[in-house]
Amino acid sequence: MRFDVLTLFPEMFSGYMTQSLLKLAIERNLVQIHLHNLRDWSRDKHQCVDDRPFGGGPGMVIKPEPTVEAVEGVQTLGTSPGKLIMLTPQGETLNQQVVERLAKHERLVLLCGRYEGFDQRVCDILQPEELSIGDFVLNGGEVAAMAVIDTVIRLVPGVLGDEESSHVDSFSTGNRLLEHSQYTRPREYRGHQVPEILLSGDHPQIAAWREQNSRERTKSRRPDLLDRTAEN
Ligand code: ADE
Repeated sequence: MRFDVLTLFPEMFSGYMTQSLLKLAIERNLVQIHLHNLRDWSRDKHQCVDDRPFGGGPGMVIKPEPTVEAVEGVQTLGTSPGKLIMLTPQGETLNQQVVERLAKHERLVLLCGRYEGFDQRVCDILQPEELSIGDFVLNGGEVAAMAVIDTVIRLVPGVLGDEESSHVDSFSTGNRLLEHSQYTRPREYRGHQVPEILLSGDHPQIAAWREQNSRERTKSRRPDLLDRTAEN
């Protein structure tokens, strides 16, 4: 799967791309990430890509020409233009169902905003899918783009060692409940014991305990998910 990221701060991705799961996926050629600096499409000798908003007000707006030309230029690279996504607090909120839908594409082009956002004509012309990662305002779309990449690559076949593990992830279509509690050694820590059943080797009983634990956790923390499951 190929990701192209258009950003004013490509260096923000360097540490992220060398973390273990993603690094391995890139080395095994399961995932490719191409970074593009929007400033490279600036027509300005100072590589300026923003300007003051018409009508006044605080902050700066990213100009339409470098943005549209950057996206069009990047989309001509590679074998298909891919799906264009703009990261913005005005977008649809990302959730696991959206992630599952995005993972069906072979290429995602992620456009990260900064400042007061893009000139509206960027959306009018390019018609991107607008996505937000939650009802809060980040300093830019880069962290949100990393969230998209991080969640989508988990569903790319071969990226996770054990393919089953993404199916039981919380919120996924295979499991609309929160994931059950996990324990590892030691069996006792500061008086807190690992539940006996997990040590029993009785796999049907362990599966039943996990299912029950998953339901209880969901009921106390996210009852809205149970309502949604009942509807489906
Ligand atoms: N840019 C700024 N805030 C954002 C958010 N919540 N989601 C996506 N992109 C953003």
